[in-house]
Amino acid sequence: MNDKQAVALEAASYVKHDMIVGLGTGSTANYFIEALAARQQQSQLRVATVASSNISMIKAQSVGLTVLSLSQLSQIDLYVDGADEITPDNALLKGRGYDLVMEKLLAKAAKQFIVVADRSKLVERIGSQYPIPIEVMPFAWQAAKRSIEAVGGVGELRQNAAKDGLCVTSHGSLVLDMRFDANLDADQLNALLNNIPGVVEHGIFAKLATTILIADQGKIESRI
Ligand code: 5RP
Repeated sequence: MNDKQAVALEAASYVKHDMIVGLGTGSTANYFIEALAARQQQSQLRVATVASSNISMIKAQSVGLTVLSLSQLSQIDLYVDGADEITPDNALLKGRGYDLVMEKLLAKAAKQFIVVADRSKLVERIGSQYPIPIEVMPFAWQAAKRSIEAVGGVGELRQNAAKDGLCVTSHGSLVLDMRFDANLDADQLNALLNNIPGVVEHGIFAKLATTILIADQGKIESRI
């Protein structure tokens, strides 16, 4: 079992009967979906889920999980998802899989948000490994990009190499991948990006995780 599987299995042990469970997107979230389905098959546990992407929805349905629509719900019990970067003060960067609007909605709607990752995701500051993904309204991308550049952002629209064109999210947004001055911390960037018209959502998840599980060579460390 690799570290992503180990941490996903640990997160599945937090699930209780009758919970509504949010499903993240990515390889670690996929392992969680499998672990949750296995728990449901082996025990009396019954849950309903809500998926953060079409890919996770299809995966969950394929392993026999019930998937609800977020439009039916105002709150969920637990959300489990991976991250691209995790800082020492527990800020997250997410959205390399570009479904961050649903991911942030679920993280906000959840009573508990458990982040599952291996130690490759630990960084000193947000944006040190990846640019910050910023979803923008298609007709506003140039205006939004200029506003982001005015606060020091540098970057480009994300391309979809497989489709030989721009990356378009499941909600029809475009994605700007932007780098910022290393002196800006996650809270400052979060506040800046929240205030730019045309920005639908961005990949900084500050003060949202309630538990962070990190797997390192089979050992699981729990933070927060
Ligand atoms: C998708 C995400 C993922 O959680 C993140 O990319 C981690 O992926 P993986 O578990 O495959 O390493 O934020 O938008």
